[in-house]
Amino acid sequence: MKFFIDTANIDEIKEAHSMGMVDGVTTNPSLISKESGVFEEIIKEICKIVNGPVNAEVISLDVEGMLKEARHLIGIHDNIVVKIPMTVDGLKATRQLSGEGIKTNVTLIFSPLQALMAAKAGATYVSPFVGRLDDLSYEGMLIVEQIVEIYSNYAYNTEVIVASIRNPLHVLDSALMGADIATIPFNVLSKLAAHPLTDKGIRSFLDDWEKTKK
Ligand code: E4P
Repeated sequence: MKFFIDTANIDEIKEAHSMGMVDGVTTNPSLISKESGVFEEIIKEICKIVNGPVNAEVISLDVEGMLKEARHLIGIHDNIVVKIPMTVDGLKATRQLSGEGIKTNVTLIFSPLQALMAAKAGATYVSPFVGRLDDLSYEGMLIVEQIVEIYSNYAYNTEVIVASIRNPLHVLDSALMGADIATIPFNVLSKLAAHPLTDKGIRSFLDDWEKTKK
């Protein structure tokens, strides 16, 4: 399973990249708003660090606006993937961009049928938001399971990016379900590497090593 990092923070991206854990990056307008600097410059900087898909989202809600923004965004770098919201206009834009060979990520997916429609429109990626469903007492990972099954039934090439990840179990379940990608916030990525028994084991090895010097 590929790991994308779900942040626009350059320090987090550099740190995760140095761990060899960044196959790509997802940003969204909220993540960009947390950083200082101009949107395009932040995206350019990310593209310098990561040699993989870098997702940048359109703001427009109408087809023409989305297409205009998408064509501008792909001019920033060859690795740009255009994030398009899951709306009727978003599907129309996705269809058009897919026909032009532009990579798209249909975002804000909350049902398997939305994901099926996005795949039919030619989306390169879809992003089901599992954490936001969990927040409303719906089982977020259930839609991932269903999307993976539907895409497998009909051999769609659209890749599933599990998004809105809140904890390590979301990542584990993504891998068990065969999702193509998990886009992981930096704090969750850090938790994946940690285990108290690892820390305890290191401490006891070092204590025993000290004893050999006596
Ligand atoms: C994915 O592409 C989104 O940027 C992100 O996963 C949304 O997560 P949130 O629900 O924590 O905002």
